[in-house]
Amino acid sequence: MTRLPATGPGEGASPPDPDALVAAAAAQVAASASLAELDDAQSALLGKRSALVAARQAIARLDPAARPQAGQLLNDARGRIEALLADRRQELHGAARASRLDADRLDLTEIISPPQRGRLHLVQRTRDELEDVFVGMGFVVAEGPEAETDWYNFEALHMPPAHPARGMWDTLYLELGEPETVLLRTHTSPVQIRLMQSQAPPIFAVMPGKCYRRDTPDARHIPTFHQIEGLVVDRGISFADLAGTIDTFTGAYFGPDIHARLRPAYFPFTEPSAEYEITCTICKGAGCRTCSQTGWIELGGCGMVDPAVFSAVGLDPEEWTGFAFGFGIDRCAQMRHEIPDMRVLLENDVRVLRQI
Ligand code: PHE
Repeated sequence: MTRLPATGPGEGASPPDPDALVAAAAAQVAASASLAELDDAQSALLGKRSALVAARQAIARLDPAARPQAGQLLNDARGRIEALLADRRQELHGAARASRLDADRLDLTEIISPPQRGRLHLVQRTRDELEDVFVGMGFVVAEGPEAETDWYNFEALHMPPAHPARGMWDTLYLELGEPETVLLRTHTSPVQIRLMQSQAPPIFAVMPGKCYRRDTPDARHIPTFHQIEGLVVDRGISFADLAGTIDTFTGAYFGPDIHARLRPAYFPFTEPSAEYEITCTICKGAGCRTCSQTGWIELGGCGMVDPAVFSAVGLDPEEWTGFAFGFGIDRCAQMRHEIPDMRVLLENDVRVLRQI
C-alpha cells in the first residue's frame, strides 16, 4: 500500500491515504446505477467539497520536503478516480442505449392472429353459383321488385281474384293502397311478367331474388327465402327443352350422383306443369326427417308457359311458346351442403356461418 510520508509532530492531521480514497471512490462509482447518479458521484468525488480536495489542502501542512511526493500521489489518485468515472460512464451509456434499442425493437417472433375475414353468406354464394351455371347455358340474369302488386304476383299469372290457387301461397300483404293490392311477392314468377312486358322474345333469362310466405318455419321451410326463376320464350319450344334444361342444370350444379325427376303438378301459369325433385342428399334417397321419409326433395316447379300468360302480356300464344321454372335457392344450398335443417341459414349463429 502506498503511504503518504509520515508527518512530523505538530504538523496537524495527516491527509487520507490516496489508496483509501481511490477504493472509496471505486465503491461509490460502482454503486451509481444511472448517469444522473454518476454525475452526483463525480461532484462528490472531485468537487470542491470532496475528500480529494481536502487531502490536497492537507498537503500544505506537511513537511515541505514531503509535499511533492504527497502531491504526486494525490494527482495519481485523482487520475485513477477520473478513469473509474469515465469507465462507469461508458458502461452506463451502453446500458441506456441497449435499453432504448430494446424498447424500440420489433418483436418479429410475436404471432399476431390475422384479422378474421368476412365472407358472403352461403345463400348469396349459392345464388352466384346458380347464376353462373345458367349464364354458362346461355341465360341472362334479370331482377324484379320484392314488393309487388296483386296483378303481377297473381292476376297476370292466370290467378284472378278469389282463384283457389292463390291459397297455394300464404301471402303477406302490405298496408299500401287498397287492402290486399300490394304484397311481398310469394314467388319470383311475377318477374316473368315484367320481363315479357319489357322486352320482345326470344327470352332466355333467370331471375333470382327474395320471396316471402306466411309459412311456419320447419326443416325445409323458412318464411323469407330465395328463388331463382327461369323463363324461355321463343318459337317452337317444347317440354323436351324444359326437361333437358332441368337435367343439364342438375348435373352441372349437384354432380352426377344426384338424380332429378319431374312429377305432374299444377300451377295456374304453366300447362302442363311439373314438380322438380332431386334425390335427397341428406339420406341419399333412403328417407329421413329432412325429406319426410320420401327420399326426394322438391326444389321447385316448372312447366310450359300457359297461353293465358302470353295473352296477359300481349304476346300471341299461337306464335310464341316457352317454359318457366322456379327453384328454391336456399333448398339448393341445403341439398348441396347437406344441411339437415334450413333454419340454421337464418339464425346467424357464427359457429354455423364459419363452417358453411
Ligand atoms: N312460382 C312457383 C312456386 O313458387 C314455381 C314455378 C315457377 C312453377 C315457374 C312453374 C313455373 O311455387
